[in-house]
Amino acid sequence: MYKGHARAYTNIALIKYWGKADQELILPMNNSLSLTLDAFYTETSVTFSSEYTEDQFYLDQQLQDQKATAKVSRFLDLIRNKAQSQLFAKVDSQNFVPTAAGLASSASGLAALAGAASAALGLSLDERELSRLARRGSGSASRSVYGGFAEWQKGNSDETSYAVPIASDDFEADLSMVFVVVNDHQKDVSSRDGMQRTVETSAFYDGWLATVPQDLEKARAAIQGKDFQALGEVTEASALKMHGTTLAAVPPFTYWSAESMRVMNLVRQFRNEGLACYFTMDAGPNVKILVERKNEAALVAKLTEHFAADQLITAHAGPGIKIQTKEVEA
Ligand code: DP6
Repeated sequence: MYKGHARAYTNIALIKYWGKADQELILPMNNSLSLTLDAFYTETSVTFSSEYTEDQFYLDQQLQDQKATAKVSRFLDLIRNKAQSQLFAKVDSQNFVPTAAGLASSASGLAALAGAASAALGLSLDERELSRLARRGSGSASRSVYGGFAEWQKGNSDETSYAVPIASDDFEADLSMVFVVVNDHQKDVSSRDGMQRTVETSAFYDGWLATVPQDLEKARAAIQGKDFQALGEVTEASALKMHGTTLAAVPPFTYWSAESMRVMNLVRQFRNEGLACYFTMDAGPNVKILVERKNEAALVAKLTEHFAADQLITAHAGPGIKIQTKEVEA
């Protein structure tokens, strides 16, 4: 029997994925563009065996409850179908995050699970197939197959919706992302529920969709031209627009807390003081700040005047998924 093992790094979208055209297949309404980071990753091992009588899912060494296991089982079913297997699995997953700050990501988790489980059943998927599979677990996971910059092309079917790497002549090596952890509690509205509510009810959603193609174009051009300011500006604009849509949802909601707004204002202030840096936010109150690596220390020094050291986590560009298969005793 084979054990599949994978390590996948999380990614942060610079141009956000926000909204699904198909809930079941996880086809997005718009393309998105991300940077894979080195600071947060998931390692997952999977074995399938005729000895097992049910799927078992361990996360950080803890056996998970039925609800969490059922989600993993549903995803494993996709892989079992592909491999024509009916074996149950043992899934052992570990999240590596620098602090217990609620930063574990579905992107790294589902990409690692896709990689490890497909390897354990002897499917040798290429990157595109792996991206499509990871997408079925969590949309953003489709981008974690690749290191550096990736764009998830929305497509219009299971076959045509996958991420691709973006050639960048190593521009990502010039960048840092500083996470400001303002809250370590469970988020109130999951990204899945939040984006669905927004698509279905927000009067601002059409405005979001209308400008994504231009924003993607700007981001791609900024990467090609190694233009940090242009990339930062469009990153911040994309996040603000995405978060704007939630205010017009019914019922309305926001992921911003008072602390998030304080960080956003500080970023604007730092820019006024001559330090080029730009923020982005996802489906929670933490703020991520994009800065050139040469200015990372200056940014962290400024942030340290306002936040405790353990609230600040610095990340750089990370690698793509790594998958290994080894034979183990049945
Ligand atoms: C705000 O990929 O977590 O982080 O596809 O429902 O699993 P599902 O959602 P998920 O959503 C990520 C949303 C986001 C923006 C982004 O990563 O592009």
